[in-house]
Order: sequence, then C-alpha cells, then structure tokens
Amino acid sequence: TAANPSTRPDGFIPVGTLQELNEKGSIFNSKIPALIIHNQKNSQDIFAVNPTCPHAGCVVKWKGNKEEFLCPCHGSQFTANGQLMKGPAHQGLKPYIAKVEGNLILVKP
Ligand code: FES
Repeated sequence: TAANPSTRPDGFIPVGTLQELNEKGSIFNSKIPALIIHNQKNSQDIFAVNPTCPHAGCVVKWKGNKEEFLCPCHGSQFTANGQLMKGPAHQGLKPYIAKVEGNLILVKP
C-alpha cells in the first residue's frame, strides 16, 4: 500500500493531541480510518479502533456518556475496546495500537 505521507518510519501516524481528545471526547481520522477515545477520562489510557461497522460498513460514533460505540445505521453496540455488545453486527470493531508521546496521539493501523 502507498504510504500515508504522515506515517512515521515506525508505522505510527500522528492523529491529534491529548488536549484535543480531552476537549472533544474523541478524535476521528477518516483517512486511516480511526476513531480514538479515552479509556479513562483525561488519562493517557486511550483506545483506537477502525470505526467501520462490520455489519454493513457505516461509521460508528462514540457515545461518551455511555462509554460505548454505537452504529447509527442499525444500532450495533461495541465496548470502548471494540468488542461486540449487541448486533446485528457479528463481530467487533478492529482495534489499532495507539499510544501517547508527550501531547501527541499516535495510531498504528
Ligand atoms: Fe452498523 Fe448495520 S451497519 S449495524
């Protein structure tokens, strides 16, 4: 695959800052695609998933108040680390490796 121009030699792609995540509650990058959330609020404990719903390909949304991903198309629900909670999807969201370096959030698809 053609390298994303911002992919680092170690394979990680910068997607935003901790400050941005704290303010918005989630960060969505449509190019990867990736959706990054806090596992614990305001911590460096983060999760990143491919937000493409395995049912029919809609993009799931993060519901911070319920701490779950919800698919707007047919209502599938997933935990913060992407595991399937409720169908019609038959499998979970694909998790990515995510880490924080200083203030920067990095994802490895
Ligand atoms: Fe997500 Fe159908 S596409 S539940």
